[in-house]
Amino acid sequence: MELSGVTLNGFTCVVAFIGGLIWLGLSWNKKKKKTYHLPPGPPGWPLVGNLPEIIRLKQPFQQYAHKLHKKYGPIITLRLGFRPSIIVASHELAYEALIHKGSIFATRPAVKGPRGKLFQDSQANIAMAAYCLQWRTLRRNLVSETLSTSSLKSFWKGREWGMEILLERLRNEAEQGAGVVKLIDHLRHATLCILLYMCFGTRLEEKTVRDVEGILREILLCLGKAEFDDFFPVLEFLNRKRRKRLQGIRQRQMEILTELINRRRAVLAEGKEEECRAYIDTLLCLRVEDGRGLNDDQMVTLCTEFLNAGTDTTSTTLQWLMANLVKDEGIQSKLYEEIVNVVGKEKAVEEEDVSKMVYVEAVVKETLRRHPPGQFVLGHAVTEASTVGGYDVPADAIINFAVWEMGNDPQVWENPDEFRPERFLSDEVDLTGSREIKLMPFGVGRRICPGIALAMMHVQLVVARLVQEFVWESKPGEPVDLTEVQEFTIVMKNPLHAVIKQRD
Ligand code: HEM
Repeated sequence: MELSGVTLNGFTCVVAFIGGLIWLGLSWNKKKKKTYHLPPGPPGWPLVGNLPEIIRLKQPFQQYAHKLHKKYGPIITLRLGFRPSIIVASHELAYEALIHKGSIFATRPAVKGPRGKLFQDSQANIAMAAYCLQWRTLRRNLVSETLSTSSLKSFWKGREWGMEILLERLRNEAEQGAGVVKLIDHLRHATLCILLYMCFGTRLEEKTVRDVEGILREILLCLGKAEFDDFFPVLEFLNRKRRKRLQGIRQRQMEILTELINRRRAVLAEGKEEECRAYIDTLLCLRVEDGRGLNDDQMVTLCTEFLNAGTDTTSTTLQWLMANLVKDEGIQSKLYEEIVNVVGKEKAVEEEDVSKMVYVEAVVKETLRRHPPGQFVLGHAVTEASTVGGYDVPADAIINFAVWEMGNDPQVWENPDEFRPERFLSDEVDLTGSREIKLMPFGVGRRICPGIALAMMHVQLVVARLVQEFVWESKPGEPVDLTEVQEFTIVMKNPLHAVIKQRD
């Protein structure tokens, strides 16, 4: 839920608010009143519901929702304007909605407001698209052409490139600063390099990677920061300055990524044998409804989605994981022992080796349980009015699922506050939730993250290489601080600074 970081200030705020009330009042008159048996929740204001208190929140939304679940139970309703927003924190109810009634709960709320229109065009975006033919075509293309097991193998050169860059940058920084490194910047850069290779089929020069990194960051920041016209699109005209700023960002995004698409077009036109079939190659020949191809605008949006969906989520997970390894030497030693047992000390870990490392997998799953990059999934909606747990879910409701709550529920997880990967050694936990849901960091059902296999492979490979190469310790006088803060994902408030020592 993008509810934190809402900026409503001064005169514009008052005008917007009053305008919003009038607009809501008008739409209220048009609506037929119908009484629903909704899940319980805190009382809200007439017309605007719980929006004012959410806007004023001083704590992360997750903590606020946690308190409400304690008070009202595992399924609650908040009101954002007229729209009920239902949050499910129970494993069984999530299973009922996303698996049993999967096709009904598989759509998304309509994308509104200037951010959505510019950066999440529903005709060319998988994550925000309604459950329709266009979504199916785009998602199937991504899954079968780029994320299938055989396609993933074909991108090995990209992973080699990313790992080289990561290790080189870490060594350089450590050399200059008594062994201390700030890990997250390097993780983000290296992850992006791998995804850029998958997207455009080639290694790119440093400056281009930095340009892409810069524009992706700007886009993420504006997607994560709602303003009043996102809630009341009818008032967009009051926020012209913002629209102009967003248009400027979109224009730069188009320039940077179209240049990369055109380079690839030229390479393909030469007809030479390529190293791999990149994501853009599949988009260039994809036919959507009516046999039409995608235009440059749509391809830029899809490539951006691919790069953004995979970069922050993967690098954030890696940072949380490494922070826990720095904190707990025992877990780090056990990991190293497994790595040496599988590949020895001389050969660098490769992806085929990682599949034999059960403890590495357990550490990754424990990280996703304790620190899921998203404490909720993306907002879902229903294709028709339905029910969950005996409560009504009206056709215009937004439904979300409390990923963090489920992974830290004491009814399901023993001592959930402890970081203890061993729990995954004795218990086979299926992250796809098709049999039962115990934890769902990638979502479950029809909207499950299509990048799940790729993300698991990248995180496992990178952590195995980092631990094989270096001993990781905390910076003297600076113990690891696991305080969270909400950015696009949930990140460390104080990013990890660690001391690394090359292993013998
Ligand atoms: C640790 C890494 C990752 C995590 C934790 C993660 C998590 C998620 C979650 C929670 C969702 C929403 C599910 C829902 O709404 O029910 C999602 C959707 C999505 N993810 Fe990921 N993701 C990760 C990496 C990736 C990667 C590497 C890619 C691709 C390169 C990717 C592409 C997508 C796409 C396209 C969607 C939208 C799916 C749809 O709406 O049909 N993700 N992801």
